[in-house]
Amino acid sequence: MDNRLLSIAGCIGEKGFADIGTDHGYLPVYMAKKGYEGAIFASDVNLEPLNCARRNADEADVSDRIRFMLCNGLDIGMKDEIDSIVIAGMGGDTICGILDRAEWCMDERYKLILQPMTKAEILRYWLSYNDFCITDEILIDDNGSVYQLICARYGKREPLSDAELFLGKLELSVNNALFDKLLEKNIKRFEKLIKGLSVSKDKREIVSLGFYRHVYSELCSVRDGINKQGSRI
Ligand SMILES: C[S@@+](CC[C@H](N)C(=O)[O-])C[C@H]1O[C@@H](n2cnc3c(N)ncnc32)[C@H](O)[C@@H]1O
Repeated sequence: MDNRLLSIAGCIGEKGFADIGTDHGYLPVYMAKKGYEGAIFASDVNLEPLNCARRNADEADVSDRIRFMLCNGLDIGMKDEIDSIVIAGMGGDTICGILDRAEWCMDERYKLILQPMTKAEILRYWLSYNDFCITDEILIDDNGSVYQLICARYGKREPLSDAELFLGKLELSVNNALFDKLLEKNIKRFEKLIKGLSVSKDKREIVSLGFYRHVYSELCSVRDGINKQGSRI
């Protein structure tokens, strides 16, 4: 188990959880091995990864604790047996697609534990637009890479600025050093995008350029605010 999966494990509620897109099944196997008493579902849309998860569970002698499901996202409802839904290690847009098909998870009973590998901004937008409140923003350092872990619950729309779509709300973030690293990475990313488009005559690219400049200026304001504050608590 790497830091990323360990951090996800730390967010899971007591009643039961579904690991959507389980692949190797490391998370369900780890939870079963450590004596987790709630229901455990491991699901994947592809048979090969699901079989890999089954093999890993067999080797760890915990197959009887895990229910393996071959299904697209949350299509097979396990709604009454769980309080947590984990969707990790995929693009933010793929995670939105999975949530979009499962209206039943729009219920305050469920804690969504989401770990987008890319396009976190699309996921945060989807959550805010669909009345989910982001309750935790956890940044994870794993071998020099920064991963974003987002926990959310249905019930209250939280407006987010454009900078917050990319970074999460500063006040929710629990690791200042990693937040600063993520902020700098995004500032550099937008600098590069702006530089690449600044001489373009293409109308659509000119519109994108305007948006990139706007996000860039919001990101720089976040950095200025942090610098002004000096050290944070
Ligand atoms: C990169 S792996 C992530 C594995 C693990 N969740 C992690 O974070 O380490 C992505 C897995 O998601 C599965 N997947 C992709 N789209 C899916 C969907 N709509 N429903 C269920 N599983 C899906 C893939 O088959 C693959 O096994």
